[in-house]
Amino acid sequence: MSEVRERPRAVGAPLRRVDGALKVTGTATYAFEWPVEHPAYLHPLQATIAAGRITGVDTAAAEAAPGVLAVLTHLTAPRLTIPDDPELAVLQSDEVAWRGQFTGAVVAETPEAARYAAGLVRFRYEQRRPDTVLREDRDDLYKPLNAAQFGQGGGELQDGSPADSVVGDADPALAAAHTVLDATYTTPMYHNNPMEPHTAVVTWTDGELLVYCSTQGATMSRDLIAATLGLPPGRVRVVSPHVGGGFGSKVYPHAYAVLAAMGSRTVRRPVKFTLTRQQMFALVGFRPASIQRIRLGADADGRLTAVTHDVVEQTARAKGYADHTAVCTRLMYAAPHRRTTHRLAPLDIPVPTIMRAPGEAQGMFALESAMDEMAIACGMDPVEFRIRNEPDVHPESGLPFSSRHLVACLREGARRAGWERRDPTPRARRMGRWLIGTGVAASTYPSPRLPGNAATVRVAPDGHCTVLIAAADLGTGTWTALTQIAADALGVPVERVELRIGDTTLPNASPAGFSSGINSWGSSIAEAALRLRTLLETEHGDVVPPDGLEVTADMPANTDAERYAMHSFGAQFAEVRVDADTGEVRVPRLLGMFDVGRVINPRTARSQLLGGMTQGMSMALYEHSVLDPRFGHVVNQDFAQYHIAANADVHAIEAHWVDETDPHTNVMGAKGLGEVCITGTAAAIANAVHHATGVRVRDLPITLDKLL
Ligand code: MOS
Repeated sequence: MSEVRERPRAVGAPLRRVDGALKVTGTATYAFEWPVEHPAYLHPLQATIAAGRITGVDTAAAEAAPGVLAVLTHLTAPRLTIPDDPELAVLQSDEVAWRGQFTGAVVAETPEAARYAAGLVRFRYEQRRPDTVLREDRDDLYKPLNAAQFGQGGGELQDGSPADSVVGDADPALAAAHTVLDATYTTPMYHNNPMEPHTAVVTWTDGELLVYCSTQGATMSRDLIAATLGLPPGRVRVVSPHVGGGFGSKVYPHAYAVLAAMGSRTVRRPVKFTLTRQQMFALVGFRPASIQRIRLGADADGRLTAVTHDVVEQTARAKGYADHTAVCTRLMYAAPHRRTTHRLAPLDIPVPTIMRAPGEAQGMFALESAMDEMAIACGMDPVEFRIRNEPDVHPESGLPFSSRHLVACLREGARRAGWERRDPTPRARRMGRWLIGTGVAASTYPSPRLPGNAATVRVAPDGHCTVLIAAADLGTGTWTALTQIAADALGVPVERVELRIGDTTLPNASPAGFSSGINSWGSSIAEAALRLRTLLETEHGDVVPPDGLEVTADMPANTDAERYAMHSFGAQFAEVRVDADTGEVRVPRLLGMFDVGRVINPRTARSQLLGGMTQGMSMALYEHSVLDPRFGHVVNQDFAQYHIAANADVHAIEAHWVDETDPHTNVMGAKGLGEVCITGTAAAIANAVHHATGVRVRDLPITLDKLL
């Protein structure tokens, strides 16, 4: 496969999105828009208590309302084959595990009729006092149990890592250190808020289920929906070519799809169901709040001698979920003594899920804030402090990195940001009312290849190539980038390649998660293309037979994955101004320098990187799900009160990358870039806020009350 590297044509070109015209002309079909015959509409019922059980239901008024076809509750819903998943097993018992959980549904002729009738259903409850407060001194904290997903190897955290790690003996090393930092950082609950709400449009035909679904992973959605309903996977088809964002909340299927399937089976008609923005705050996951204690010890030269990172996070009592929040601390900096731990607090709250850079997003806020504090304590420049503690190999596993250009990112980012002009003294720069400060933080995210992929490549006698894989493009640009990879692997111009994605009738694909898409799907496509070219050459003398030629290949294993640690890196530089009177924080400049291997498409890559940095700014300053401890629900359930960084919040923002190819990740030389870019941003901003004001905010988001 060296052709790909030696003769790059499409890869590296700023190709416009292959799905762009469809999107901007409104002709890209999103899940809710699929035409189905004579659809009915579903509106859900949701628990109004956070813990307890249902003792009575009155559905008479709803059943008598105009247009109502069925009212489902736990008393009337079809029984499911439970795949041991308390989240997906909807309406199977009288237990209420969180406020907002599905307790039923109304199916009616119109969305309005369903919604009206839903308001007529009355539940009686036996209520338990909800337990919803995250604290690090709770006596029921537990070590995560096998939260690993995606077949990543049975670890305790959701990325497959063990919950705890120990190298050396951190406590005595800290006691003996020249300089010590001991600080606790907290991050709130954040909600994934894609533009397109979660949607399922379902049709049953002869016992087979068709689901038009807004999902990041058609194959996994099919498998889990089928298992929940007790069907073989072959009798479920999931279709999802266009997806309006997800940020992780559409990787795992959620109960709404099962509820829609139940509703459709009950009324024997196609059913359309889309969540409202408000409903999304209880039903499709969130990034759990964290309490993170970090201790750093350093010698007189500013070399780290010991690092500890102890994490306590929210999870649902109903279903355990564990981000790998301290895993970044296992790999970022050299130190002979190290300990990391993860513990969960089981609460009467909805089930968390992965949200863009799950783990690293909050973990790198803590670690990179601590590194800034420690640099100051050691009297060092924060860029130089990081460079001094750069490891030669992965500090815990001892494996070499497949590529690691963090130092280059720090140096080149500092040069572009004008870092050498910085006076390190806090509160040194002021323009009128504005205190000005700058800050830096590093970024990292793994670059894995997920199992469960295959691709089919076809060539027609006229040279037209079709590539089939059930991958997803949730707005990331992967549809375009994969087309480029396919074109080069086939040795044809991109115009001759048509890529079909987002349908379980296509070869299986892993979900668009863990920044693994290009690595997993791209490797599969490149493999199928290589085999097709070999077959064409050896068996057909390079002439396409009259009925074309087709090859399907499984994703090749990467033996280098056991011999190298594979991660993307970056360095982010923030400039902030803080109003000295009101505490208002603005970010006039944000600059990211990334190490993401070969960039397949600089146009879509840049958009991804800027998007992640913007979401990181949003995490630093604005987003914050406010959980009412009395009732266990998020009170700010809309964009008016859950503010996400918008155009007016973003000023100068730049994303650059080092021009490096990773020799071990895949034949393209690419690493993941969709998530590394959100990591570190919040710390860079918090560090800049400290530089501007002298106030260290260890508790996100950085709101003005914390600066006055
Ligand atoms: Mo990403 S949170 O793994 O979709």
